[in-house]
Amino acid sequence: MPQQGAAEIDGIRAVGADPALEAEFDTVAAWTEAAVAELGEDHAIPAACRGSGSPADLAWLADGLDLHDDDRFLDAGSGLGGPTAWLIREYADRWSGPVVLAEPMPHAAAASRRLFGRPAVAAWSEHLPLADDSVDAAWCLGVLDTTEEKRTLLAELHRVLRPGGRLGLLVLVARREPSEDLSSNSFPSDESVERDLEATGFHVLDRRDAASTASAPDDWQRREEAVQAVIARDHADDPAHREAEHQHAVLGRLMSAGEVVSVLLRSRAY
Ligand SMILES: C[S@@+](CC[C@H](N)C(=O)[O-])C[C@H]1O[C@@H](n2cnc3c(N)ncnc32)[C@H](O)[C@@H]1O
Repeated sequence: MPQQGAAEIDGIRAVGADPALEAEFDTVAAWTEAAVAELGEDHAIPAACRGSGSPADLAWLADGLDLHDDDRFLDAGSGLGGPTAWLIREYADRWSGPVVLAEPMPHAAAASRRLFGRPAVAAWSEHLPLADDSVDAAWCLGVLDTTEEKRTLLAELHRVLRPGGRLGLLVLVARREPSEDLSSNSFPSDESVERDLEATGFHVLDRRDAASTASAPDDWQRREEAVQAVIARDHADDPAHREAEHQHAVLGRLMSAGEVVSVLLRSRAY
């Protein structure tokens, strides 16, 4: 990635952002953005939480971030930015610090900026365009299970977090050998996630299975489904839509069988 020199991203010191990547196009993100434009702004947050679970999962992780006042916050692998938009809304009475979203799919990063008005950079979390110790807290939701480079990614999050900074993780974990292959994922075990966190400078403070938190309320699910219905109406024949549906169905079967579970972790950098 070309180095662009130091810059400010809404008050957070950044280095090495690659604006050229942002010109590229990420299909599903564009479709979701168009569906939200059709259905209304109240659909944006549910539609833009892609794989981050229910508001109860987000609330449990958010409680562990210890955010207040002008704390600086990073969403690593932010997708369309729904979780951070939710966080900003829910924590408005105690926290108003700068936020940066980092997402490697350039169109998703750009779409999140348009949907929620927060700065987003196109970047892999193994190589974040942020200075050392530049954020006080971060979360990384549904990302660790998509990369083989788990320790590189965690070490990079450790680099940009200040000592004592909090990290929230949502990770899809394999509880036994998955019976189907999901090409986009590399599921860790419970033990390997803990080992990787300890090896990269994090203490695990608490953890729980997402299944133990409440599922999303009906109106959240209705909005999510309405967005999916508009996307299917307009793009069902597109190979990208069929591939996304296939991945979704495989993951659904792995999770129903208990082979893969969603795990939430609160941790602190030391
Ligand atoms: C399941 S989605 C979750 C998106 C968002 N965190 C959320 O919860 O709504 C996984 C996201 O991780 C991104 N991703 C995949 N590999 C990544 C990596 N190595 N570094 C950062 N993000 C990555 C994908 O582009 C995708 O947006």
